[in-house]
Amino acid sequence: MPQLQFPDGFLWGTATASYQVEGATDEDGRGPSIWDTFSATPGKVWRGQTGRVACDHYHRLDEDVELMKSLGVQTYRFSIAWPRIQPDGSGPANPAGLDFYDRLVDRLTAAGIKPMPTLYHWDLPQTLEDAGGWPERETAERFGEYAAIVGARLADRVDTWWTLNEPWCAAYLGYGNGHHAPGRTDPTAALTAAHHLLLGHGLAVQALRSAGAGQVSIVLNPTQFRGDEAAVRKGDAVANRIFFEPLFKGAYPEDLLGLTARHTDWSFVQDGDLEQINQPLDLLGVNYYNPTWVRDAPGAEESPVAPGVTDVEVWTPEELPVTDMGWPVEATGLTDLLVRLHKDYNVPLMVTENGAAYPTGPDAEGNVEDTERIDYLRSHIAAVHDAIEAGVDVRGYTAWSLMDNFEWAFGYDKRFGLVHVDYTTQKRTPKASARFYADVIAAGGLDR
Ligand code: FCB
Repeated sequence: MPQLQFPDGFLWGTATASYQVEGATDEDGRGPSIWDTFSATPGKVWRGQTGRVACDHYHRLDEDVELMKSLGVQTYRFSIAWPRIQPDGSGPANPAGLDFYDRLVDRLTAAGIKPMPTLYHWDLPQTLEDAGGWPERETAERFGEYAAIVGARLADRVDTWWTLNEPWCAAYLGYGNGHHAPGRTDPTAALTAAHHLLLGHGLAVQALRSAGAGQVSIVLNPTQFRGDEAAVRKGDAVANRIFFEPLFKGAYPEDLLGLTARHTDWSFVQDGDLEQINQPLDLLGVNYYNPTWVRDAPGAEESPVAPGVTDVEVWTPEELPVTDMGWPVEATGLTDLLVRLHKDYNVPLMVTENGAAYPTGPDAEGNVEDTERIDYLRSHIAAVHDAIEAGVDVRGYTAWSLMDNFEWAFGYDKRFGLVHVDYTTQKRTPKASARFYADVIAAGGLDR
């Protein structure tokens, strides 16, 4: 028995997202998404790369499901591309789009892998962005309709659903600093987008439940802050409680409204919205990569990803190792985050993303010896175990990512995969970390 044995029924999985792996962006009636437009815009993505081919997962679905099966993966968190289902973001479904995910769900089920789709991992139909995007209320309504279409087709075989992936990124990177599609830089739009993403979530939860979904949830990327108390409180309002409080308590926090008053009076929140958002959730998905250190810094200007927060500076302790993203490696942040969420909101949790980018490629024998990734995974899986030991209800862990893929503004430069992808041949090579992870799954835990 491993030293750190996880509870029976703990689910081990891998995660990906549609635009990052599928390719086939103009096949079978798929409409353009904001990521097609953004990545085709010079200067937005590393070397002008796009998701046009990506990992060609759209055509290699069978092979990729077999690959997961060979690793013993128990669940697959993938995302559904809205523009495959509704090319313009509204109206009747595109049958070929639904067929693709139908096939994926069936293949996974046949392989004994539990399918866990995310409805929105950032590929908004371009038509909806042209009409104003997430800062427009209509986008939330369209999202609810889309959820109903997908639910009607798949809820007979899919039990666990995620509505949105990381609304923080969609709102603040998409509309705040413009590092992600659609690339807008407007603090008011970012806050309005955050609200409409939450409203869309609430509408989608209701649509999925009407369609017979079992467990419904959302995936957040809460920031585990470390540092000066006042700085942490401000950061926590704008990065975390802006999502936690409406979702779990049906209200926006007072300090958030105060901090952001210079950008908005929040009059876009209509009567009844908070009730729509505050739907009972069966789980909360938590994506974690690293903590964020903040300190009081009188006079510091606000950052476009923290509207209203002034006099605060973000910094990183120099002694910590960093990944190829430059992100510090600090696993206890994951334990602390899970403990905090359990304590404050008492909801069952699942770690829906965790992993690290390292550039390690095949050696002369064709092996990918990514020992740094193994170390990262080992320490973070142990951190999840520490949270469970502390009494937190954690139901599963889905590693980011099954395979190397299109890492948004970083293109194919950053490799997060357990499986190496040769983008010229599309050859998949499980790295040493994939074998390590397969062993963890087989043993139901690991030695520290
Ligand atoms: C998360 C995203 C995921 C991936 C990882 C590295 O923010 O949800 O798509 O890019 O970061």
